[in-house]
Amino acid sequence: MAFSTQWAGAATLSDVKGLILSGGAGTRLRPITHTSAKQLVPIANKPILFYGIEDMVAAGITEIGIVTGDTGPDVEAAVGDGSRWGVNITFIPQDEPLGLAHCVLIAADFLGDDDFVMYLGDNMLEQGLDRFCHQFLAERSGTDEAPAAQILLAKVEDPRAFGVAEVDATGAVVGLVEKPEVPPSDLALVGVYLFDKSIHEAVRTIEPSERGELEITDAIQWLIDAGKRVRHEILDGWWIDTGKKDPLLACNRLVLDTLASRIDGTVDDESVVEGRVVIEEGAEIVRSRVRGPVIIGRGTRIVDSVVGPYSSISEGCSLTRTEIDHSVVLEGSTITGIPRVTDSLIGRWVEVGASDAGAPSTRLLLGDHSLLEL
Ligand code: DAU
Repeated sequence: MAFSTQWAGAATLSDVKGLILSGGAGTRLRPITHTSAKQLVPIANKPILFYGIEDMVAAGITEIGIVTGDTGPDVEAAVGDGSRWGVNITFIPQDEPLGLAHCVLIAADFLGDDDFVMYLGDNMLEQGLDRFCHQFLAERSGTDEAPAAQILLAKVEDPRAFGVAEVDATGAVVGLVEKPEVPPSDLALVGVYLFDKSIHEAVRTIEPSERGELEITDAIQWLIDAGKRVRHEILDGWWIDTGKKDPLLACNRLVLDTLASRIDGTVDDESVVEGRVVIEEGAEIVRSRVRGPVIIGRGTRIVDSVVGPYSSISEGCSLTRTEIDHSVVLEGSTITGIPRVTDSLIGRWVEVGASDAGAPSTRLLLGDHSLLEL
């Protein structure tokens, strides 16, 4: 999220490259990720991945590499060549999700000897990248003890799902461990890292972890063990790893709260639109109530329905005689005659309808790994 202001006295970041990781398996967002990349799931109707790209663009980075996996063609089609943001984008295919450090390994030719910022494509943070990057650059040019890496840490309640850092009494990072059963601290690694070229030797030297991945935490630990300095910053503002449904909906709420209202579609006389609402061109609101914060995508029709707070309805959807709130609905989906949908993530081209009045049963056609709470 490019919410930060320009860092005073900023050196140019045009020599720093960006590396965004958009491969991986996406198992925690199945079934959506059976057919699509988790990084393309929209937050406020914009793919999560685009927020990372825009953060880099806002920081002044112009060369961005994107690591892709099985969903590479979809990611490439959605992102394009970067010209819409005025940057160059290079796609780096990864045959298998062999770990975050493996991504650095296969991006070696793209990165060369340049400093780079690595950004996990399913992470979103309120704080922009410019201040984070400029602090690293300033320290690298100023001292003998120039940092070889910089990490961003956030205090979390349950660190066991993250990489965790151990910081000593002097404030130095002394250890990093990936998803520990007994965490050494409550400081989780946020998915934004800065490296100089010494990381390349680290990723070439470390061995795969027990889960078979080349871990970036092990590579950073290798830097520390080799006597290199690893700086850290404590995160300012919110951060969400959007890889699961509930954090994704929480992230959607945070971003919707920042939208500037805009009505480019049509709203008939019998409808009421209140609060922070974006209605895109070609969308139609008919005999309905829309209570923001809400975004309604292009060409979507809302008829005899209530769209309640914190809902993002993507383009080409149709909602009829339905009440929905706190939900994300992806492109082309139809919901008809459902009195209350809440806290839901609905995929692309899904049809949800009520059974015939008085019908004794519920009829379902659900994909593998679907989650249904009736
Ligand atoms: O969200 C922060 C956490 O991200 C850190 O605290 C952990 O230290 C770090 O390992 C990572 O943990 P996750 O389990 O959340 O990582 P995940 O497998 O979800 O991958 C993160 C992103 O990188 C995601 O966009 C997919 C992409 N990826 C992942 C792997 C393993 C790749 O492109 N290639 C890969 O091989």
